[in-house]
Amino acid sequence: MPPIKIAIMEQKQIHILGIETSCDETAAAIVADGREVKSSVVASQTKLHEKYGGVVPEIASRAHIENIYPVLVEAMERAGVSEDQIDAIAVANQPGLTIALVVGVTAAKTLSFMWDKPLIAVNHLHAHLQSALLREERLELPAAALIVSGGHTCLYEADSPLELRLLGSTIDDAAGEAFDKVATILKLPYPGGPNIERIARKGNPKAIDFPRSMLGRDSLDFSFSGLKTAVLYYCRGQDMQGQNRVDSMSEQEIADIAASFQAAVIDVLIKKTKRAADKIGAKTVLLGGGVAANGTLREAMQKMCDKSRPPRRLLVAPKPYCTDNAVMVASLAYHKYKAGMFAPLTLEPSANG
Ligand code: KG4
Ligand code: ZN
Repeated sequence: MPPIKIAIMEQKQIHILGIETSCDETAAAIVADGREVKSSVVASQTKLHEKYGGVVPEIASRAHIENIYPVLVEAMERAGVSEDQIDAIAVANQPGLTIALVVGVTAAKTLSFMWDKPLIAVNHLHAHLQSALLREERLELPAAALIVSGGHTCLYEADSPLELRLLGSTIDDAAGEAFDKVATILKLPYPGGPNIERIARKGNPKAIDFPRSMLGRDSLDFSFSGLKTAVLYYCRGQDMQGQNRVDSMSEQEIADIAASFQAAVIDVLIKKTKRAADKIGAKTVLLGGGVAANGTLREAMQKMCDKSRPPRRLLVAPKPYCTDNAVMVASLAYHKYKAGMFAPLTLEPSANG
């Protein structure tokens, strides 16, 4: 009798091309089945915006227009896939700078039309949370999810990657924005977050008792503008008449201000996340967004989860996927692909999320 041939059918992987242009990073990535990163390309514009101390929308938009084609080509080449292996095109279409988002949205719509592939629209903030779930096999729900970025500080209740309920957000500056503004006061280079963290390592977090704004006993909203102003007063005097004293301060004094400011931001972020987690009975805490790259915040959040009774599991975005990237866009789009949640070719960018 001839040997029986058993054909093992390999299940086809779903490859999604993700595109991200919401602020000052032009990014493209190819992710298989929502978690296997085939390529991730990020063209940062930090150098272009550095001398202005923040992102200039017009400059960002022009740089995206210049970068989008080479970034897309590189993402395809590094992944070693051809257009017929791509199953869908995903793009972050909100929130962000409209004139920056429009570049990614137009590129995604063009590829979707040319290659005849479905288009998937992704919320940039929800995608930041997906970074925390990239390596996760078994997510225990509900989860309290904190997004801390340059433009947003949001707490969500997550019942699945696609079901997020907003519990609270900032009423003025975002956490990352506060880091960037305080870095400017301390005359540290842009982007402020990583530089404050670096300087703060040599400082005493208890040196200055900066205010922690909790906005009432039950509030899950955030406010960081008072803290930023307190740092400004500390450097220029209460009447704001004096010069910024930073030039005449010792390295240690600047490090103490940075460490004390960072401690105040982190204190509020941890207390509010715990408040949200207690309120919804969260089994898991998720942390994502640019500020989640901060080592002191990651450690403090881990401590809070370990000390909770019962202890909570913390899932944090891997450091390379904290700041803006397209892996998080393609990864979240996989869940939308499976749910058949496609966008029309009339998709528009939106500044608000
Ligand atoms: O998520 P992201 O790349 O862009 C937005 O969606 O806004 O976040 C950028 C923000 C910037 O404000 C930057 O200063 C902050 O994240 N950031 C940090 C750190 N790395 C980036 N803040 C504190 N510590 C860090 N290590
Ligand atoms: Zn972001």
